[in-house]
Amino acid sequence: MFLTKEEEVMLAGGDGRATQKAMQILVALGKIYDAKKLVKVSSVQVSGVSYKNLGDAGLEFLDELAVDGRARVKSTLNPAGMNLTDWRSQGIDSGFAEKQLKIIDAYRRLGMEISCTCTPYLAGNEPHFAQHIAWGESSAVAYANSVIGARTNREGGPSALAASLTGRTPLYGLHLKENRKPTHMVEVGAPLGSPENFAAMGYFTGKAVRDGIPYFTGVRKANLEELKALSAALASSGGVAMFHIAGITPESGEKVGNVESIAFTTGDLKETVALLNDEGDPDFISIGCPHCSLTELGTVARLLKGKNVKREFWVCCSREVKRQCDEAGYSKAIEASGAKFATDTCMVVAPVEELGYRVVATNSAKACHYLRNAGLRVKFMTMEECVAEATRIR
Ligand code: F3S
Repeated sequence: MFLTKEEEVMLAGGDGRATQKAMQILVALGKIYDAKKLVKVSSVQVSGVSYKNLGDAGLEFLDELAVDGRARVKSTLNPAGMNLTDWRSQGIDSGFAEKQLKIIDAYRRLGMEISCTCTPYLAGNEPHFAQHIAWGESSAVAYANSVIGARTNREGGPSALAASLTGRTPLYGLHLKENRKPTHMVEVGAPLGSPENFAAMGYFTGKAVRDGIPYFTGVRKANLEELKALSAALASSGGVAMFHIAGITPESGEKVGNVESIAFTTGDLKETVALLNDEGDPDFISIGCPHCSLTELGTVARLLKGKNVKREFWVCCSREVKRQCDEAGYSKAIEASGAKFATDTCMVVAPVEELGYRVVATNSAKACHYLRNAGLRVKFMTMEECVAEATRIR
């Protein structure tokens, strides 16, 4: 793989040990994927922030890098395992909190922005069309490639960190135009019109195309919240990192070759929703996977106004969107109801199963997928149903 003089210096250790280690990771990756060279990236989203996922080995790795490593480009963080300030109100154990705060401290020393959100594109990390980025949150990757038209592979924790410390990533996969073409046509016959239906469509399609690139036809309109839900679901049941929607996403105008075709019917929609519902009464309700937009928070505030929640109810969003929510006057109604903002974390990366909850209701297909894998039972509901469930007197 070709390296510039500057990159050779990094690899030889001239810019410090952390940068050298980062460059070694990128060169190894480049060799595996047959990249001809590295490409400069304009931003990085680092996943692997929760102590629940990183553990002590991850903390040690970060501490070592933080001795002399520094981010060279805008680098934002995925959610942590708890709210960084009011974690006690979430029932988090102090041992877990101590480790989590050490992880955050290491990221701070590395020069990362402590954004702790999976929707960086709603919180100040907004790439442009055709810009090369290295993002490591699967839902954000699918959103950035498909909706924004930026270019990123689905980075893992170490490769995203390596990209941050060098400002580069190997040029392969979705960084190359020829690899961004559809692999499957998906003819949509089912009615959509809500983020939950888009999520169900994503969940169905992800299973069918695995790590392919679906091209949806028959979708008349899609808003930000629907595209966000679709991105997350596609990337959870499958490994989808990019999709197109005819007439809606920026690269959907390219010619579609002769690819396999599948259909998403009303029957498929109903079956998928049924598949995401287990038995049991929810004892924990959470919305905001991926983290809520301001519009979603406005809806939750309207739904919760004058009501009291009867069960633990988390509303997950970034600190930045929470700030906008405060300004818009939505936060009062949400907090007065007893619902809690989860601003640096979410129902999946927080140790929810250790907090004693057994059945989780959520409007996210992605959250259902991962919570079920963690041994919890799930209920896939609309946002309105989640609020009704949270305020219902048993
Ligand atoms: Fe975000 Fe957590 Fe869902 S990181 S995409 S809210 S699983």
